[in-house]
Amino acid sequence: MLGRVNHIAIAVPDLGVAAATYRDVLGARVSQPQALPDHGVTVVFVELPNTKMELLEPLGEASPLAAFLAKNPSGGMHHLCFEVDDILAARDDLTASGARVLGDGEPKTGAHGKPVLFLHPKDFSGTLIELEQV
Ligand code: CO
Repeated sequence: MLGRVNHIAIAVPDLGVAAATYRDVLGARVSQPQALPDHGVTVVFVELPNTKMELLEPLGEASPLAAFLAKNPSGGMHHLCFEVDDILAARDDLTASGARVLGDGEPKTGAHGKPVLFLHPKDFSGTLIELEQV
C-alpha cells in the first residue's frame, strides 16, 4: 500500500524563524509561506534531494496545531506523509483492518493540491500518518 515518503511535517511556533534556520543555517531550498485556511495552517516547504518537509505554523484560532504546540512549545514532528496510488482503496483496506481515519473519512485537498487523509496516531505507534494520492 505505502509508496514513497512524500514529506515529513514539523509543527513550529514561529514559521519565519524555522524557515530561516532551514534556509540560512542548513542551506536548504525553502518556499514562500502558503496559507491553508481549510487546514488551519500556514506552510513552508523545504526541498530535499530525496523528499521534502513541511514546516507548519498555526493559522486561526481553531488550528489543529494549537494543542500540539501547547504540549510541545518549541515544536516537533507532527506527521509523516506516505504516497498511495489509490486513496479510497487504501482507506477501505485500512478501515477494514480496524484503523481509524480522522474526520469524516472523505479525502480533503492537501497542501499539494492532491487528495489526502489522516490516520489516528494511536493506531500507528503514536505517529499521525497522512496518506496522499499521487
Ligand atoms: Co502533510
